[in-house]
Amino acid sequence: MSEFEYASAPESRAIAKIAASYDLFIGGKFVKAKKGKSFDTINPATEEVLAKIAYADKLDIDLAVKTARSAYTKIWSKMPAKERSKYLYRIARILQERAREFAVVETLDNGKPIRESRDTDIPLAAAHFFYHAGWADKLEYAGVGSKPKALGVVGQIIPWNFPLLMLSWKIAPALAAGNTIVLKPAETTPLTALLFAEVCQQAGLPDGVVNIITGDGITGAALVNHADINKIAFTGSTEVGKAIARSIAATNKSATLELGGKAANIVFEDAALDEAVEGIVNGIFFNQGHVCCAGSRLLLQENIADEVVEKLKKRMSLIRVGDPMDKNTDLGAINSAEQLKRIKEISNTGDAEGAQRWSAECKLPTKGFWMAPTIFTGVSQAHRIAREEIFGPVLSVLTFRTPAEAIEKANNTMYGLSAGIWSDKGSKILWAAQKLKAGVIWSNTFNKFDPASPFGGYKESGWGREGGRHGLAGYLTSESKVKK
Ligand code: NAI
Ligand code: MG
Repeated sequence: MSEFEYASAPESRAIAKIAASYDLFIGGKFVKAKKGKSFDTINPATEEVLAKIAYADKLDIDLAVKTARSAYTKIWSKMPAKERSKYLYRIARILQERAREFAVVETLDNGKPIRESRDTDIPLAAAHFFYHAGWADKLEYAGVGSKPKALGVVGQIIPWNFPLLMLSWKIAPALAAGNTIVLKPAETTPLTALLFAEVCQQAGLPDGVVNIITGDGITGAALVNHADINKIAFTGSTEVGKAIARSIAATNKSATLELGGKAANIVFEDAALDEAVEGIVNGIFFNQGHVCCAGSRLLLQENIADEVVEKLKKRMSLIRVGDPMDKNTDLGAINSAEQLKRIKEISNTGDAEGAQRWSAECKLPTKGFWMAPTIFTGVSQAHRIAREEIFGPVLSVLTFRTPAEAIEKANNTMYGLSAGIWSDKGSKILWAAQKLKAGVIWSNTFNKFDPASPFGGYKESGWGREGGRHGLAGYLTSESKVKK
C-alpha cells in the first residue's frame, strides 16, 4: 500500500431522537401553527427529509409576541437578577450535558462536520450562557448608566451557518439583560433551536420568556414588522439587513445587525509560512466557508506568493471532503441547493473575468450538495470574486508589494467585519491592526471566538456588537430612555 487511508469513523446518530414533526414553541409548550402549514428540513449531505416543521405566519407571530410581552411584564422584569442568572447557568449546564445529542442534530440538519459541531459550535454555545449568567446581576457595569433596564420584547432572526451558536449569541445576552424573546431560526436548520426549546422546559424557564417560531423570510419580515417588538437582532445577508433597517426606520425599535464580510487575510514576507498556511485553510475552509468573518480574500506579499500558493495547494489536497458524520471529515456538505447555486454562480464569474481556478482533487458524494475546496489566483480588486461574499469554500488570492498597499487593498471593500495579519514582527502587526477597518482582527491565528470578546463590523457588515460588555449593552437602555 503506497499511502495511508483513513478508515471511516462514523459518529452514531442513535443519540439524536428527531421527531417526525415539530410545532411552534410558544408560552412554554409546543403549539400547532394556526393555519397548519409546514415545510421540510433536510440533511444536505444526503437530501434525506429529517422532519416536518410548522410554518408560522402573522397570527402565530402575534400570539408569540403577546406571550413574550406578558411574560416580560408579569414575570421576567420582576424577577431578581440573581434568580434570572440561575436559569442561564442551568441552561448552560444542560447544553453541556446534552452536547453530543446537540452536535449530532446540528450536523445532520446543517451538513457541517461532526468534529466542528462537537468541538466548536456546541461548547461555544454553552460558554455564551455561562458567560452571560455571570452578567445578569452586574448590569450596572455594562456601560449604560447605573440603573440599566431591559428593552422589553426582542425579535431575533438567525441564519443557518452556526444555528445553535447564533441562537446562543442572541438569547444569552437578551435573557441576562432581562428581555423576553421571540426567535426565528433559519428555514434550513431549525432543529437545534427546537431542541433548545426542550432545554428551556427542562431548565424550568418561566413560560413565554423564550418563544421559538419557525418559518422563512416572510415569517422573519412579519416578526420585524410586529408593532410590539422593542428590538430586532439579526444575523444574515447584508441585503436582508438593509431591508430590516428600512422597515424599522421611524419606529421606536432598536436593532443590531450582523451582516456579511469579505475579510482580508494578509500574509507578510516575514510570516511563519507553514503556520500561515494552516491559518489560511482554517480561515476559508472552516464550516465550508459559510462564515461571515471568513478570510476569503488572501493578500500575499508578492515575493512569497508563489511559495505560499504552492504550499496551500499541497495542504488543500489533504482536506477530507465528505460525510459530515465521519469524525475524520474536514469539509462537509454545502448547506442547501440554493447556497451551492449561489457559490457556483459567483465562482464562475472568476473564470469569466480572467482569474485562474484551482480545486483540490476529491471524490464528491453523488447525493447532497458539495463543492471541492477551490482557490483563484490572478485575482484583481475589480473582480466580483474579490468584492462579493461567496460564503463557500472558495478563496480569492491577490498580491501586494508594500505594507501600505496591503492595507489599502484590505480596506477597499464595502464590508469590514474581520481581518487577519500574519507576520513575525510585533510592531508591524500593531501598525496594520490600527489601520485596518475591521471589527475583529486576528494576528497569527484566525477564527478564534470567545463570549467575552465583542464581535461586529464596520460599514455594510452591520450595526452594533455581539458578545462581551458591548454586546450586552445592546440589550439594555439607561433609565432615562426606558420606553413606557
Ligand atoms: P438571509 O439573510 O436571507 O437569511 C438569514 C435569516 O433571515 C433566515 O432566518 C431567513 O429566514 C431570514 N430572512 C430572510 N429574509 C428576511 C426578511 N426579509 N426579513 C426578516 N428575516 C428574513 O440569507 P440566505 O438567503 O440564507 O443567504 C444568502 C447570503 O447571505 C449568503 O450567501 C451569505 O452571503 C449571506 N449570509 C450571511 C450570514 C452571516 O453570518 N453574516 C449568514 C447567512 C447568510
Ligand atoms: Mg436542514
